[in-house]
Amino acid sequence: MSVDVFLSESKIQERIEQLAKMINKDFAGEELYVIGVLNGAFMFTADLVRHLNMPVTIDFMSASSYGDSTESSGELKINLDIKVDIKDKNVLIVEDIVDTGLTMTILKKNFEARGPKSLKLASLLYKPARNTHKVNIDYLAFEIEDKFVIGYGLDFDGRYRELPYIGVYSAEDSQ
Ligand code: PRP
Repeated sequence: MSVDVFLSESKIQERIEQLAKMINKDFAGEELYVIGVLNGAFMFTADLVRHLNMPVTIDFMSASSYGDSTESSGELKINLDIKVDIKDKNVLIVEDIVDTGLTMTILKKNFEARGPKSLKLASLLYKPARNTHKVNIDYLAFEIEDKFVIGYGLDFDGRYRELPYIGVYSAEDSQ
């Protein structure tokens, strides 16, 4: 068993710079509240904000979604909420992956209810093959096939989040 590089560190960083340019343009002259969704998005959030040039407030939250993947509604369990008040603020949610889309569908609803001035979503990855809840991703880095990806924040049983690249398991041994 080994890990094959699927998206290299340089490819990820290059794409993040492109996304940051779009965000800088869209929010020129505005303030932005960046909310990273733990745990997966910690690295993407950290790298993305380095390239933002407007006044930025950064916070994190942790939430788990529960629900039948075929249902459009689901429960959101907030394990850690943001400490900032986002009413009348420009908010950018930063996520590592939109898979079925359930988590972001209900998290966005939860955030909308807090009355932000604007609410946008940045996601590093999107897997269309697994999507059951259509979510509008305003800033998407990569659309990927239905592969089990790890690294750059994404885990397998809590491991591999520290890798600077995104990898997939390979049955081949690396030796
Ligand atoms: C992952 C990911 C998203 C969610 C996406 O989180 O970070 O929050 O799953 O899946 P969905 O689109 O099917 O709802 P996970 O629960 O694995 O937690 P983690 O971020 O701590 O790894």
